[in-house]
Amino acid sequence: MSSFQVNESTVVLAIETSCDETAAAVVMGGNDVLSSVVSSQIDIHARFGGVVPEVASRAHLEAIVPVVRQAISDAGILPGRIDAVAATAGPGLIGALLVGVSAAKSLSLVWDVPFIGVNHLEAHLYAGLLDDPTLQFPLVVLLVSGGHTMIVEMRGHGDYTVLGRTIDDAAGEAYDKVARFLDVGYPGGPAIDALASQGDATSIEFPRAMMHDGLNVSFSGLKTSVINYVRKNPDAANADVAASFQEAVVDVLCAKTIKAAQQVGARGIVLGGGVSANSLLRSTMTTRGEQAGFSVALPSRAMCTDNAAMIASAAWYRLLSDGPMDLSCGAYPNLKLAEVPR
Ligand code: KG4
Ligand code: ZN
Repeated sequence: MSSFQVNESTVVLAIETSCDETAAAVVMGGNDVLSSVVSSQIDIHARFGGVVPEVASRAHLEAIVPVVRQAISDAGILPGRIDAVAATAGPGLIGALLVGVSAAKSLSLVWDVPFIGVNHLEAHLYAGLLDDPTLQFPLVVLLVSGGHTMIVEMRGHGDYTVLGRTIDDAAGEAYDKVARFLDVGYPGGPAIDALASQGDATSIEFPRAMMHDGLNVSFSGLKTSVINYVRKNPDAANADVAASFQEAVVDVLCAKTIKAAQQVGARGIVLGGGVSANSLLRSTMTTRGEQAGFSVALPSRAMCTDNAAMIASAAWYRLLSDGPMDLSCGAYPNLKLAEVPR
């Protein structure tokens, strides 16, 4: 396998099981998505109000074979056409990650093709490029998910600097916690997004923490403000609270991302991660980013939330730069963006 050639016709099967979606995808040449299957565990975790790690691992184990089989079938190929198998190696829930990594390694052994362990955060950066491969570096990517919030300068493939990050809660975590407090549905992000569209975003002036203080962000104080406000104003309409909370989150995220893009002379701004499926974030970043002179790339909503196509894309670029990975690669729950799993 040392002479492995990577090109536009190289087909990667990727598996994603880092949290509560069991996903598999077949992607050719880094950005031609032949299939992308996502099996969500939302219904399983809804009654607990959050992801239960042990339950997630077991659900992945049940779903993994049918999901992989579906991805290969949807791609309209035979397994023999697959040139490499990838899996998310971290960060994520350890038991959940192990299901995907073990499945991918087994397939790599059986089919005698390379294995690649992929950094889930790096893959979220690739979701934008997957939808628009013509994007020019340097890019500033706002990566906002349930576990992470960071503003990343992407100078090239595998070449990143984290310019800013949350000092406490991730943006998605703030959405999920506020939604749980308001009791408006699970998962919290989409529930607040929908509710906010019926509310008045100017009705409550929630704080914009660290607005004029570097590129880091903080959402923990905002969450506390929402809780305090609702306790003091029990008759406040949930839709107004949701809309005003969302306005504060989006205001800070857009201001900091544009500031970062100006600082590094970026050629464009890209969104990534589950929260970038948010309607207000998408429209506000587009308007304000373009006003500031940047092109703004919005991956499709399906590519924002966890999926395996972005894993396959990141794997293709890693294969190109580093070649196949050793099967001794493990699962790394706390993997950082700049770390390559080995
Ligand atoms: O990237 P992702 O699917 O998983 C992680 O890697 O964390 O992100 C999940 C997060 C959750 O917190 C969810 O509430 C949030 O993304 N999310 C949204 C929306 N859709 C998903 N947040 C705000 N608005 C949305 N429409
Ligand atoms: Zn994710």
